[in-house]
Amino acid sequence: MIFYFSATGNTQYAAQRIAEATGDYTISIRQCMAGGRRSFPLREHENFGIVMPTYFQGMPLFLQEFLETLSLTVEGSDHYAYAVSTCGVSYGNSGSEAVRAAQKAGIHLDATYRIRMVDNWNPYFNMTDRAFIQAAEDTAETDLAEVCGKIRAKERGVYLADCFDAEKERELAAAYEESRKTALFQVNGQCIGCGACAAQCPVQAIKIQGGRPVWVKEKCLLCLGCVHKCPKNALSYTEETIGHGQYTNPHVPCIV
Ligand SMILES: Cc1cc2nc3c(=O)[nH]c(=O)nc-3n(C[C@H](O)[C@H](O)[C@H](O)COP(=O)(O)O)c2cc1C
Ligand code: SF4
Ligand code: SF4
Repeated sequence: MIFYFSATGNTQYAAQRIAEATGDYTISIRQCMAGGRRSFPLREHENFGIVMPTYFQGMPLFLQEFLETLSLTVEGSDHYAYAVSTCGVSYGNSGSEAVRAAQKAGIHLDATYRIRMVDNWNPYFNMTDRAFIQAAEDTAETDLAEVCGKIRAKERGVYLADCFDAEKERELAAAYEESRKTALFQVNGQCIGCGACAAQCPVQAIKIQGGRPVWVKEKCLLCLGCVHKCPKNALSYTEETIGHGQYTNPHVPCIV
């Protein structure tokens, strides 16, 4: 079983590729969150994987909480367990954060991996830069091939080293918390009121009122799915994203 959460398709693509390489199946954390499902059987000899994006140099807090509260009914003792961080530039401390969160759920991770993909943080990166996108997609294929091979071989004891000390890790977690404010989203005149942004939001933070999106929660996950998937590119997150375009992984026609 391979759990994954994806907003713009990178992590879903990575999870699908790992599933193809290992013969495992994927489980959408977004769907688990929507249905409140936390209990799963882990059959004898079955692998356990969690594939996640990196936010603010770490494992997103909501995914740490998801993993910590996962309830697995484990059959037998022969299981290979791993975490994979997708990222643009740096996975930060996400590997050790995943190890700690898994421990709380009684799961020992045998390995942690990273796959570099297109960095969808468009407050900084410009998605209209074709050369940047192409280079990142090429790197992703190289990393995917390598990581799929290691998971298929059930490599153990391979862990991502932390990039920061504990104090910096706390600072980064605080910066994520501060940045999750939905007041930082804006909609421009191109909006056609289609409701796609609201429909795909994993935490129902958006409602359509008077034909326009309104953020009805003070904080959200900051997954940027609404910004990147709007058919009219009508949403921005701070002024910095304006003119930086949109990105969704081309291998994933339907992000779930
Ligand atoms: C809020 C946020 C913070 C991010 N922080 C980082 C980061 O610290 N390091 C990094 O390499 N990529 C960072 N990224 C990029 C994503 O981790 C990366 O593009 C990931 O593959 C997106 O996965 P998805 O397409 O499945 O949503 C960030 C993206 C978001 C939305
Ligand atoms: S997805 Fe875009 S066009 Fe559709 S309602 Fe949301 S902001 Fe408006
Ligand atoms: S409102 Fe926040 S959680 Fe919802 S899709 Fe947009 S960025 Fe993601």
